[in-house]
Amino acid sequence: MAARFQAPRGTFDILPADAAARARVEETARELFDRAGYARIETPAFEETELFARGVGEATDIVRKEMFTFEDMGGRSVTLRPEGTAPIARAYLEHGMHRLAQPVRLWYMGPFFRHERPQAGRFRQFNQIGAEAIGSESPLVDAEQIMLLDELLRTLGVPELRLRLGSLGSPRTRADYRSELTAYLREREGELPRDVRERIDENPLRAFDAKDDATRSVMAEAPTMLDRLAGEDAEHFATVRRLLDQAGIDYELDGRLVRGLDYYTRTVFEFECERLGAQSGVGGGGRYDLLLEELGGSPTPASGWAAGVERILLALDAEAEESPRDVFVAAADEQRERALSLVAELRRAGLRAELDLAGRGIKGQMKQADRVGAARAVILDAEGPAKLRDMHSGEQREIEVARVVEELTGR
Ligand code: HAM
Repeated sequence: MAARFQAPRGTFDILPADAAARARVEETARELFDRAGYARIETPAFEETELFARGVGEATDIVRKEMFTFEDMGGRSVTLRPEGTAPIARAYLEHGMHRLAQPVRLWYMGPFFRHERPQAGRFRQFNQIGAEAIGSESPLVDAEQIMLLDELLRTLGVPELRLRLGSLGSPRTRADYRSELTAYLREREGELPRDVRERIDENPLRAFDAKDDATRSVMAEAPTMLDRLAGEDAEHFATVRRLLDQAGIDYELDGRLVRGLDYYTRTVFEFECERLGAQSGVGGGGRYDLLLEELGGSPTPASGWAAGVERILLALDAEAEESPRDVFVAAADEQRERALSLVAELRRAGLRAELDLAGRGIKGQMKQADRVGAARAVILDAEGPAKLRDMHSGEQREIEVARVVEELTGR
């Protein structure tokens, strides 16, 4: 026998049994964004590699080692999108969205690709739901976005949530802090592994993200940007905090929260779910006031977040479920054609109707009706009237076939 294929490492199939839980996540997001005035945007699954190198940052793990990059037939380097913010900033600039009322509020949902080591909750192709507001530096935007993500996760019932909140200041104020941190890391260089040492000059803040114990203990004593926030950055952050307090949203201040992307300025945040273990981040984001300029636009402040759909589903421990049927039409062999037209009619009337397609006997069909969670069954076991059965009570009575739709729709 020929060898069979499997889905590539770190990827997965979304099977029909998973569809209902997924659809609920998508629907909840769609409704939430609609109410909040966010419009849907979709960008391509791949972009010029340079967009991510410049947007996400050369010193990040994502750009250094996690991108699916290849040359197209024309010799151009393209990359499967590892995240959505740089592409959306690109689209904002490309389509002159600065001419629209600001901030432009956009949301998206779709697949993203990172060549990470696969483990529970970490995939090479995964789905994100995200939101970006481009064109405002108001702390109201930061707070509103955190409230939106909080509402999304709570409406879906994600348990054991923790919100970590920090601020990275802006590069102008960060310069002093950066030198201070660089000096600190140089002082303790001997304790740091090579990859951390190599990134000290490029971006010393990356060291806060390191997972090894040696770096962690060095970073536990490092000064944080939060300790050094001053002037307008400090005011901005104080306002974000006050707005969250007023909204009744709990958070933990965390000066070590740097996140895995280099475009952040000022507010950063991350929602974690304890239940997820090592990959506990369900969603996160922050402000990126300089990204649009970095990509060739005029100075345009912006802020956003993204949540992982698979992490949300894992946190919910979603049980596979099928959407229950309103009615199952069971039929004796010579009645099957009538059954098909009745099912078609019921579906036109808006009901979820199903019939047997596997040649089961009436008894087997009733079992199937039970299995698919049908509330009622219509039984066509002979010419003439049908039987209408309430699947919960077991009550059964005769009904003219012509009256079935009216009876079941109440119309
Ligand atoms: P991120 O934190 O890299 O941010 O990703 C957001 C979420 O995507 C994570 O919290 C996690 O739930 C999910 N995620 C990331 N990588 C994986 C993976 N390998 N497998 C499964 N899920 C994953 C961003 O991507 C930013 N673009 C967010 C943002 C928007 N910041 C500003 N605007």
